[in-house]
This record gives sequence, structure tokens and C-alpha cells, in this order.
Amino acid sequence: MRIVVSVGGSVLAPDLDPERVAAYAEAIERLVTDGCEVGVVVGGGGVAREYIETAREIGANEVELDRLGIGTTRLNARLLIAALGERASLAPAVDTEEAAAALRRDEVSVMGGVTPGQTTDAVAAAFAESVDADLLVYATSADGVYDADPNADPDAAQFAELSPAELVEVVLPMSRDAGASAPVDLLAAKLIDRAELRSIVLDGTDPSAVVDAVLRGDHTGTDVVPPGAGEPSRWTEAR
Ligand code: UTP
Repeated sequence: MRIVVSVGGSVLAPDLDPERVAAYAEAIERLVTDGCEVGVVVGGGGVAREYIETAREIGANEVELDRLGIGTTRLNARLLIAALGERASLAPAVDTEEAAAALRRDEVSVMGGVTPGQTTDAVAAAFAESVDADLLVYATSADGVYDADPNADPDAAQFAELSPAELVEVVLPMSRDAGASAPVDLLAAKLIDRAELRSIVLDGTDPSAVVDAVLRGDHTGTDVVPPGAGEPSRWTEAR
């Protein structure tokens, strides 16, 4: 089973805790031991936001801010690489082609951001499409996809399952409102729809949630299921 996991920076390194990064590396190693080919895309989290806010006050333009963001995603990716040791690619891949090449060499392929104007959500979707991944997992700080921002609206309801086209519809208005936070960004949702990628959005605070989701399909987040897509055979076998 070939999977791509997008690990939010706020999930991997909210406060640069070595035990947390090591726990994520252990979860990924568990997946590899169970026969998964694993690609990982790491986000920037709070560190990215701090750099971006500081540079914005200095007068940096949006592309410069994005480049700072990309730099922090790659720093976080290097942390994970350090924890994974020899199983991982030597350095964060600079594009999805390089990341795919690392997968072919049987390495755990780790990368951060690649180009201004997007986030690592979209990088993960493009990576998953380029390697025909069986599953794309977003390990975020929100427990799935909601019909409104759960931090702002107490009546927000979580989707247990939705189609990629429905994901685009849900994310579209959230992307228009400044300050509202979409669970995955619009470009990622569009790529998931275009490539018909089976995906899961879950709370990745506990890295074992990613293991349970990948190996058995067990999670409390949201399944994004393309029309007609069956379950990965591994899940059926595990039940
Ligand atoms: P993230 O993917 O962590 O952004 O990249 P995010 O979704 O805003 O962060 P979370 O999920 O809320 O923690 C950090 C920043 O890096 C730049 C963007 O500015 C992004 O906001 N970036 C990242 C790019 O410009 N291109 C990329 O390919 C990736």
C-alpha cells in the first residue's frame, strides 16, 4: 500500500518537543514495517506563521513570505528526517518528482513546501497523485472536515464521509473568508477531486491515529471517498 501523509507543522512540532517528533517517526516506521511505501509532506505550523508575520511587518511581499514559509516547512521536514535516520531520504525533496524518486528507492520520502502561492496541503495532493497513492492522509489539528469553522461556530457539524466534489464545495466558501480556516486548502481539494484520491482528514495530535487509519481504516475524522472507490484491501483483510 502506497500512502502519502501530510503532517501539519502544528501537529509535528507545536513546541519543538523531541519526544513528539520521535513519536511521529515511530508511527511512520510502524507503517513501513507493515509493508507501506510512505511519503511524508511536513507543514510549517506556528514557526512559519511567526516568520511570516515578522517579515510582513518589515514589508516583505507575498512571494517572499511564501518563501519563508517554505523554508520553515523544510526545517520541520529535516527534524523528521533526523528522527527517521537511514530509512528516510537524505534531505527534503525540492519537488514532487524528486520525492517520487526517493519512494522508488524504497526510502521514506520526506518533503516540505515547493513553490510560492500554495500550502503543503496541495503539495501532498500533487505528490499523492504523481505516485498513484492508494491513500492520502491529512494529519491536522482539526478532527476532520466540518460544514463550518468549528472554532468559530459551536453548531459546526463534522462530515463522517464526503466525496471529493463535495469537499471542494465545502472548502470553497471557507477559502473566500479571510481568517476562516479550511481543513485542507482549495487547491488540494481540487487536486483530490481531479485525481479521485481516496483521502482521510483526521486529528494527528496522537501519531498512532495515523497508523490506525492507514492500516485498518479506523479513525474519528472524515473519509473523502471518490464515487465507486472501494476500500483498500488491507482494511478489509484487517476486519
Ligand atoms: P503550511 O502548509 O504549513 O501552511 O505552509 P498552512 O496550511 O498555512 O499551515 P497550517 O496547516 O495552518 O499549520 C506554511 C507556509 O509556507 C508557504 C505558505 O506561505 C504557507 O502558508 N508555502 C508552503 C508555500 O508558499 N508553498 C508551498 O508549497 C508550501
